[in-house]
Amino acid sequence: MEKPRTLIFPDLESLSRATAVVFAQAVKQAVKERGRFLVALSGGETPLMLFSLLGSSPYRDYLPWREIHIFWVDERCVPAGDADSNYGNAWQHWLKHVALPPANLHRIQGELEAGEALETYEKILGSFADQGETWVAFDLVLLGLGNDGHTASLFPGSPAGDEGQALVSVVQPSQGRLAKRISLTPLVINQARQVVFMVSGASKQSALAASRNPDSDPLRWPARRIQPLTGSLLWMVDAAAMGESKEAE
Ligand code: 6PG
Repeated sequence: MEKPRTLIFPDLESLSRATAVVFAQAVKQAVKERGRFLVALSGGETPLMLFSLLGSSPYRDYLPWREIHIFWVDERCVPAGDADSNYGNAWQHWLKHVALPPANLHRIQGELEAGEALETYEKILGSFADQGETWVAFDLVLLGLGNDGHTASLFPGSPAGDEGQALVSVVQPSQGRLAKRISLTPLVINQARQVVFMVSGASKQSALAASRNPDSDPLRWPARRIQPLTGSLLWMVDAAAMGESKEAE
């Protein structure tokens, strides 16, 4: 595994703009090498500014949307129009503004019974595996980090053994979260060519420090389980999350 890199930005806006550049570069490389770009998105608040940038000029106008395929890292088991839907938020902030063919949108169908949603999504993922491969290898996986250290729907205390060889898992409601979730497992995330964490805000300081510390317990800090086998890992963070005041820049 390549050594993780960390890029620190003054604030969420500069972090989002830089991540849009990373996204566009990843698209260019993937389309040049393989004729398509496969990306898996996380939900939450942090990526919303990035989504708005990608849904506006210049990205809206020049990215090769016909070659771009959008997937999700995780989804709450709610209908697409629900305020908690990760797909719904990406649609409103970004995807409805760009000429992405509907067939290139591969959402997790949160309105289905969880087991059915999982099976349906697993089949879609399998259909995108490269020739001779079992698992899909995403060109880019965008992850966030919760204040408690969760990423995707991998929550503190969720033992690694639970998932076995699964690509996708059903996560039961916990710690006050009401909806079941469907989540990619580290097995498939770690197949990605590039994994980017976006982390912003002082509330993430302790989770970020622990998640970047190689000695942290992956049971308590599940982001430690994100270790791309051959791909790269990039932490895109702002000064507040690193615990550095802006003056320190
Ligand atoms: C989800 C997300 C989740 C998110 C973190 C950070 O479905 O909740 O995929 O993993 O990335 O909770 O969320 P914020 O960006 O809102 O802090």
